[in-house]
Amino acid sequence: MKKIRWGLLSTANINRRVIPAIQESPRGQLVAVASRSLDSAQEYADYWEIPKTFGSYQEMLNSDAVDAVYISLPNHLHAEWSIKAMQAGKHVLCEKPFALTLADVDRMTAVAAETGMVLSEAFMYRHHPQTKMVGEFVKSGRLGDVTLVRGAFNFTVAKPENIRLAADMGGGSLWDVGVYPMSFAQYIMGERPEWVMGDQKLGASGVDIFFSGQMHYSGGRMAQISSAFNTPLYTMAEVIGTKGRLRLTRPFTGVHEDGNRITFYPNDLPPEELTLPEEYLYLGEVEDMQAAILDGAEGYLKLSETRDHVRTVLALYESAQKKQFITL
Ligand SMILES: NC(=O)c1ccc[n+]([C@@H]2O[C@H](COP(=O)([O-])OP(=O)(O)OC[C@H]3O[C@@H](n4cnc5c(N)ncnc54)[C@H](OP(=O)(O)O)[C@@H]3O)[C@@H](O)[C@H]2O)c1
Repeated sequence: MKKIRWGLLSTANINRRVIPAIQESPRGQLVAVASRSLDSAQEYADYWEIPKTFGSYQEMLNSDAVDAVYISLPNHLHAEWSIKAMQAGKHVLCEKPFALTLADVDRMTAVAAETGMVLSEAFMYRHHPQTKMVGEFVKSGRLGDVTLVRGAFNFTVAKPENIRLAADMGGGSLWDVGVYPMSFAQYIMGERPEWVMGDQKLGASGVDIFFSGQMHYSGGRMAQISSAFNTPLYTMAEVIGTKGRLRLTRPFTGVHEDGNRITFYPNDLPPEELTLPEEYLYLGEVEDMQAAILDGAEGYLKLSETRDHVRTVLALYESAQKKQFITL
């Protein structure tokens, strides 16, 4: 069986979640890690039992040891290294947020088209069967007409040196975790919002440590999202319709946790717990890439949807700065 040889572009913290997915996937093989320092690549490779190491990102891109790279760099480096990787003939799975400007999203998309490389945003929860099941439930009509999507992703960022607090690295709670409820709303509504309104509280480093957004969709449907770096971990999502509502306790990152529940509250009837599908959270994004590379399959998460994620975040930030509604 042909396997995709994966390389990790950095020794980021998040890699520890993606590595088991590559290892678990029958058509994936983790062959290399690149770091800005060879020592750190070597130490990382020893721990995770990765055969090849590179002391710079470009060296890994220049080698023919890997077919695809997973980009887990700070947000401001996503576009630059995705483009360099594709130009070096590597397929790219790039962490969220994909890029910090629409011009960068468009450049990345153009390079993917020019080089024929597969390029995808690593939004793992979008690929998970739990999210797909919720989408099907909404489409089934059991909620009636959807009127409102709500979602939150809060946690605590304690260390001042965390990349999430660096204004020049694309830090901020909306870029980091607000993108989860924002993209969830886009998925359920099937489109980007028509206009948005955002409000934020900035922290000492100049990035939003709390963000609240209101998004307006066609037909008067709405979404309300929030994200924070200054409260304990809390995630939720809710889809409210004319016939009932659906509540998710772990919509984004906690699908394997004991407290994960999806409950349907039909109007005037007892609540119903949905059966949760089991799959490792990060497996879907890896297998989707492999199917696109090896079988020519169409990727599940389209670059047009990714572009709308970035577009909506930019509009929300613009609204918060100008204290105005922003039309997309
Ligand atoms: N999908 C998810 O579940 C999820 C979860 C967490 C984070 N993420 C995303 O993954 C990305 C990485 O997040 P993380 O928390 O894992 O980051 P992190 O632990 O801080 O790692 C970032 C890595 O980038 C490399 N790097 C290159 N230039 C750097 C610079 N100037 N400053 C700091 N690091 C630099 C470093 O690797 P070397 O030293 O090896 O070069 C570093 O280990 C972000 O885009 C984030 O949004 C996604």
